[in-house]
Amino acid sequence: MQHDKVLILDFGSQYTQLIARRVRELNIYSEIHPFNKIPKDIDSYKAVILSGSPNSVRGEDALHPELDNIRAKKPLLAVCYGAQYLAHFSGGEVAPSSTREYGRANLSYIKDNEVFFENISEGSQVWMSHSDTIKTLPTNGVLIASTSDVANAAYKIEGEDTYAIQFHPEVYHSTDGKQLLENFLVKISGLKQDWTPDSFVEETVDAIKAKVGTDKVVLGLSGGVDSTVAAVLLHKAIGENLYCIFVNNGLLRKDEFHSVLKQYEGMGLNVKGVDASKRFLDALAGVEDPEKKRKAIGNAFIEVFDDESHKLTDVKWLAQGTIYPDVIESVSATGGPSATIKSHHNVGGLPDFMKLKIVEPLRAIFKDEVRRVGATLGIDPELLGRHPFPGPGLGIRILGDVTAEKVRILQEVDAIFIDGLKSWGLYDKVWQAGAMLLPVNSVGVMGDERTYEKCVALRAVESTDGMTADWVNLPYEFLQKTSNDIINKVKGVNRVVYDISSKPPATIEWE
Ligand code: XMP
Repeated sequence: MQHDKVLILDFGSQYTQLIARRVRELNIYSEIHPFNKIPKDIDSYKAVILSGSPNSVRGEDALHPELDNIRAKKPLLAVCYGAQYLAHFSGGEVAPSSTREYGRANLSYIKDNEVFFENISEGSQVWMSHSDTIKTLPTNGVLIASTSDVANAAYKIEGEDTYAIQFHPEVYHSTDGKQLLENFLVKISGLKQDWTPDSFVEETVDAIKAKVGTDKVVLGLSGGVDSTVAAVLLHKAIGENLYCIFVNNGLLRKDEFHSVLKQYEGMGLNVKGVDASKRFLDALAGVEDPEKKRKAIGNAFIEVFDDESHKLTDVKWLAQGTIYPDVIESVSATGGPSATIKSHHNVGGLPDFMKLKIVEPLRAIFKDEVRRVGATLGIDPELLGRHPFPGPGLGIRILGDVTAEKVRILQEVDAIFIDGLKSWGLYDKVWQAGAMLLPVNSVGVMGDERTYEKCVALRAVESTDGMTADWVNLPYEFLQKTSNDIINKVKGVNRVVYDISSKPPATIEWE
């Protein structure tokens, strides 16, 4: 790769991925590696950032990076734990904070003529999240910024391109955080800002061509953003040698199989739609436990995909829509090397398609970058903006056992809810939405008739990554209209409730 790159050493902070994303928003490529696994080709990185950490530099579980080939040899930015580390072990002192230093603060002092703070003024809001504080700066440390509570909020080391900050520039609440990263990476470290979706597409297409050559590749399309963007990239590189399989598991949204299949065909993809609804429903018959349902659906998918790939001859590669968060090694709180990478085991006993060589064109990019790459590739914005949808589909939104009739009911309900969100202009304000069919019958009255029918729960959440989520305050008028539409139009439903639980402690899906 010809781009300048930044190495981010991870000490286990919840914000580490945000650092990488903010850097990439500046069109600079960044990689995250565990603090204790510094890449051997360290010379290929033009700057290094040390992340925060839940650990304390004063504790026995302090994490010790090996900085001999970094410190004073290339520009270094130390954030939070990193800043405390450089202070505590290089002649300064870190102590517990006397006041809690969480949340908003404002820079009350900035040293004059510091390139690091160019275009940032006193008063600028920063985000603190630490319980230790730097009491004394390290040897050759020069104070460059303070807040009213944190005297040593930022320092640099005389004679080095080493900068350290106690606050988190990567979170949006640090209003000039991006500017600060730009000052460090561009003005101080001299990195080029040439990592763009266009350059990514061009280079990835070349890399796929070089890797795969004239071999055939098979890919499972799901209707989601990642597999779609992966398919379009591969198609651009190898054309008809990409064989896409789009399986209808019978648990998709209403009409989704046919409409998405049409869309794929319209995009010129070499795609085969396989309607295996019956096979999935048979596998699910009488299964009530959520995890067993997931297994049954997963196994059925593997069987169908294996059958279909056997119909193709000479396929050498399996393409997947794996993205960067699935690949990043995580650092455990104790600093142990706890590699939790998803792996694809090339061992016996697995279906044949799993023994294929793997090509993952999106392995280096985050979800928001996948969307930007998708836009560059000319993919329909509506498809790119689709809410996440779980692999097991409506199978885990029908609580208890799954039948064709329950799928029909839930598809109707879901369609009214989702179409309503779209027509009220609410769809893009919601991160994910859907309906759950509850295993509950309740009494109602329609006309003069007593009814005893199903209850559905609507769920709409705001989130950034699905790890935490909050329910969305949808307008009452919208809920009123949606509830009326569902009860009047969907036979078998006489009650609608709205889920007002956040995650945690609830989860987004009910199963
Ligand atoms: P939860 O319910 O754990 O969901 O709060 C978080 C996100 O993950 C999705 N989800 C799944 N996706 N297979 C998937 O591919 C699954 O089994 C599964 N379970 C939950 C969920 O839709 C949400 O976006």
